[in-house]
Amino acid sequence: MKTSRRRIVINPQTRSIPLENVAPTRPFRQAPPPKEIIIRLQDVSKIYPDGSRCLIGANLNLKRGDFIFITGTSGTGKSTLLKLLYGEETPSSGQIYVNGSEVHELKGDHLAKFRRRIGVVFQDYKLIPNRTVAENVAFVLQAQGRRQQEIERRLLPTLKMVGLAHKADAFPDQLSGGEQQRVSIARAIVGTPPLVLADEPTGNLDLENATQILRTLENLNTYGATIIVTTHDHHLAGLSGKPIVELRQGQLYWQKR
Ligand SMILES: Nc1ncnc2c1ncn2[C@@H]1O[C@H](COP(=O)(O)OP(=O)(O)OP(=O)(O)O)[C@@H](O)[C@H]1O
Ligand SMILES: [Mg+2]
Repeated sequence: MKTSRRRIVINPQTRSIPLENVAPTRPFRQAPPPKEIIIRLQDVSKIYPDGSRCLIGANLNLKRGDFIFITGTSGTGKSTLLKLLYGEETPSSGQIYVNGSEVHELKGDHLAKFRRRIGVVFQDYKLIPNRTVAENVAFVLQAQGRRQQEIERRLLPTLKMVGLAHKADAFPDQLSGGEQQRVSIARAIVGTPPLVLADEPTGNLDLENATQILRTLENLNTYGATIIVTTHDHHLAGLSGKPIVELRQGQLYWQKR
């Protein structure tokens, strides 16, 4: 029996093509992940214009409340991966969903609102130089529109948690590298965000301070926050007992679940 093939017929009146006959011009896209998946990387590649290949068809699914370490040698793309998750970099291909949004589709106010729900510890701290420690940390709460009373209620306990209450009035250039790093951690957690992305948050800390910071992150995790910590310190990652994902040659490998 002869099968009839559907032809695309252009309507001579309107010159428009019936939508159901048009092949999709965009690549096939997956449906957004279910609600319990807070992070999904779907065949994600990231190749910088200079040819640096950080991710090559990488996949990852994290549920709300997961706490993982991402390890990998210097230059493998750990920071790049976190930048993709909060929309500072765009993937060369593939899809990234965070908190129900496809990250690289977000622009302007939507992107700003999306980022307000993520606490980021930057590898290079990114403190505001002409603001004190307290002002740097309070800035996040002000951006979230919190009231002064609420800001005061949260500020001091958070500074105490990172051992910096006594430096509240100091400016960043009056602090050591490790102290600046702890300010950036305080800023990331002060608003108790549902997702924390911490890029080498203990890179400049001694073991005692590093352990204290990990405990603080674990504490936040017990309240339901999802936490991703990058590190090249396998020992520290191992001490925590949390799952470890290794980034190697553009792929993500679960080392311990
Ligand atoms: N904006 C950029 N333009 C071009 N190449 C970049 C850019 N940012 C990073 N890279 C390159 O991508 C690779 C991964 O960099 P990335 O900073 O993500 O690595 P990393 O794993 O965080 O390293 P480290 O452990 O030293 O912090 C490196 O080769 C780096 O040179
Ligand atoms: Mg890095």
